[in-house]
Amino acid sequence: MTPSLETPRLLLLPLELEDAEQVERRFPRWEIVQYLNAIVPWPFPEGAALAHIRDVALPSVERGDAWHWTLRLRTAPDQLVGRIHLSREAGNNRGFWIVPELHGQGLMTEAVVAVNDYWFDVLGFPVLRAPKAAANVASRRISEKTGMRLVGATEKDYVCGRLPTEIWEITAEEWRAVRTRFPR
Ligand SMILES: CC(C)(COP(=O)(O)OP(=O)(O)OC[C@H]1O[C@@H](n2cnc3c(N)ncnc32)[C@H](O)[C@@H]1OP(=O)(O)O)[C@@H](O)C(=O)NCCC(=O)NCCS
Repeated sequence: MTPSLETPRLLLLPLELEDAEQVERRFPRWEIVQYLNAIVPWPFPEGAALAHIRDVALPSVERGDAWHWTLRLRTAPDQLVGRIHLSREAGNNRGFWIVPELHGQGLMTEAVVAVNDYWFDVLGFPVLRAPKAAANVASRRISEKTGMRLVGATEKDYVCGRLPTEIWEITAEEWRAVRTRFPR
């Protein structure tokens, strides 16, 4: 099961079925979906957030295959502003989005630090890998800031089409060395 986590400015709460309504309102925006996996339906049909949470995300949590959080500002804890998840899926261990109004303030970097700690220190995995569209500059920058290494290149299908893709990686040992850069 997914525990609540905290960062200096964010609360990470375990995803619940009741979050579907807020996800449905805040998620379907081009700035959020363009570089997400093409499995995300676009245009985003009514009910798709509920269906994803109920039929995909929460069952994967129950199986122990994934850990899903919603992001909330500590100053407005009732308002869902994004999501982040971890997964056992080979080569695709983490995913995230946050509403465009909050981009560029270092918030997702905080969430990444919290879930990286959980991945390595609590779950005990030896390595974390994440693919991302090479064009997704903000996501790439998060990888750089948190000490990941570029280990491969491929192509993948995104909501916006097929794009060159980078595979980023960090080991537990590397994470523990980089972790000192960030506040506890
Ligand atoms: C990717 C995403 C989660 C980043 O969230 P965020 O809270 O803005 O991230 P942070 O502020 O922690 O870090 C982003 C970094 O990218 C930089 N950045 C953002 N856009 C940039 C651009 N166009 N060019 C250069 N740098 C850029 C920011 O300046 C920041 O770096 P800095 O701290 O060195 O200044 C957010 O843009 C998002 O939700 N995108 C849509 C969903 C998505 O693409 N998810 C990832 C799929 S792999």
